[in-house]
Amino acid sequence: MVNKKVLIIGGGVIGLGIGWQLAKSGATVTIYDRAEAGRAASWAAAGMLAPLAEAHNEEPELLKLGCQSLERYPQWVRELEADAEMSVGYRAEGTLIVGLEPDDTHQLRHLHTSQQDLGLDVEWLTGGTAREIEPALSPRVTAAIRCATDHQVDNRLMVKALQRSFQICGGVLHENSTIESIVIENGIATGVQTQGGFRAADTLILAAGCWSAQIEGLPDALRPPVRPVKGQMLAFQMEAGITVKNVIRTVRARYPMSVYLVPRTDDRLIVGATSEEMGFDTRLTGGGVFELLRGAWEAVPGIYELPLLETWTGLRPGSRDNAPILGKTPVENLIYATGHYRNGILLTPITAYEIAKLILTGETSETIAPFQLDRFLR
Ligand code: GLY
Repeated sequence: MVNKKVLIIGGGVIGLGIGWQLAKSGATVTIYDRAEAGRAASWAAAGMLAPLAEAHNEEPELLKLGCQSLERYPQWVRELEADAEMSVGYRAEGTLIVGLEPDDTHQLRHLHTSQQDLGLDVEWLTGGTAREIEPALSPRVTAAIRCATDHQVDNRLMVKALQRSFQICGGVLHENSTIESIVIENGIATGVQTQGGFRAADTLILAAGCWSAQIEGLPDALRPPVRPVKGQMLAFQMEAGITVKNVIRTVRARYPMSVYLVPRTDDRLIVGATSEEMGFDTRLTGGGVFELLRGAWEAVPGIYELPLLETWTGLRPGSRDNAPILGKTPVENLIYATGHYRNGILLTPITAYEIAKLILTGETSETIAPFQLDRFLR
């Protein structure tokens, strides 16, 4: 058991995940969230656990981190579901990545080769075989890759489970509670200034997603290079005859944009997502929704008949090199866990386990060493 006072800025899956692990180890953990915990990027996400789909071969360290986090998912889910006494909707059916034009097939081939090089469990399918697996797919599907290792989790259930397990383990959560400033004295983070006064801490963790660079009190040179990247999303209600079991992703060499369709256990079908550099603008647009509908309808024409349940937007915390910013900073006792961009849900277990370990032992593991802030300071 440790006797450490830890304060976390940001109550998304990253902050809650680290907080839960630390509280479980005996630390005194308090989380501050500017709004409702877990209702920003963690809520907006689709929950796909697909390292290769969301990173590129030119990002080998990020790919490796994603694969390592995916490997830890079953253990993470078992532990979380036991502590929270609820399901997080983890599903291991896999993903079908489909092409709809001859040009898309070339791109799929390239992806298939990369996946094989990484030793992933992937299978090349003809369009006909893909339709046997998912009859709702369009007759236009030319080819597909079945990626058995790309799983999914219901991110909204995971938010609830993390919040519950964090609090069961003794963590304290302050919602709608904006931090006025981080307090740094002589190069050491000592706590935060809140509306209710100064709160001291042995360790401060910055896990505020796309708001991380805006926290007052950070030296300008050490602000994490994180910006908001908007994603527009929507959800249908699946009905008899128009259902899918696997996550479906389209790979489009030309227009329309690639989309993903993610079936949930409650028969919702999530469709995403645009990727827009619009600052903190969270409005839906006609064009964004149109492109999502068009992309999804081309892959699964039956969605035309389905009730549309929900539309929403989220702000991904995009870092300058697409990889998260994890670990120590030049300010003593100030730890970063932010910038997870398109991979926040996938990278939650590895971030929570490794950052908790760092705080408990003081040692930066080889796993997170390449992701420290210092890569931007050199
Ligand atoms: N990881 C899915 C997205 O960022 O849209």
